[in-house]
Amino acid sequence: MDASFERSENTKVEWLTPPELVKKLGNFDLDPCSPVNAPFLHARTNFTIEDNGLTKDWFGRVYLNPPYGKGMELWLEKLKRHGNGISLIFARTETKCFFDHIWNDADAVLFVKGRIRFYHVSGIQGGTPGAPSVFIAYGKENALALQNADIEGRFLLLKS
Ligand SMILES: C[S@@+](CC[C@H](N)C(=O)[O-])C[C@H]1O[C@@H](n2cnc3c(N)ncnc32)[C@H](O)[C@@H]1O
Repeated sequence: MDASFERSENTKVEWLTPPELVKKLGNFDLDPCSPVNAPFLHARTNFTIEDNGLTKDWFGRVYLNPPYGKGMELWLEKLKRHGNGISLIFARTETKCFFDHIWNDADAVLFVKGRIRFYHVSGIQGGTPGAPSVFIAYGKENALALQNADIEGRFLLLKS
């Protein structure tokens, strides 16, 4: 495990999802929080910190790996209201964010087996972080996409 990832978990925001993982979930219309100098893109439209993706109108199918730390909850709340997309966050299942926006509101979750090796903005893949990750689906089609994605882990349907 890369200890520097663990130490910086609450402050580091540039943890990029491995593109091969996102591809397994299908095509996305919007990534509302993409790096300014992205080494790869996950969606057709990509907002950056310069656009402030949190204040924009979201559309279509959204892929959301939000900036971590304070304020992360606002991104989950916005995706919950939008109702169409998949998010990736650390599996901190005891947190207020999980209880306010996920356990009672998401359609499904997939707890990823092992630890994801996120990418740096340089395009280099980093070490494993100090926490496991979970994909969260909002909307029935996204729950199905998560269930059928070839991603090792434990899938849980939260709404039938
Ligand atoms: C955890 S990274 C995820 C990046 C990308 N979505 C991915 O999964 O590969 C979070 C990203 O959000 C960006 N970000 C931070 N604040 C933002 C804002 N207000 N609007 C849009 N993007 C923002 C950061 O620059 C960073 O690239």
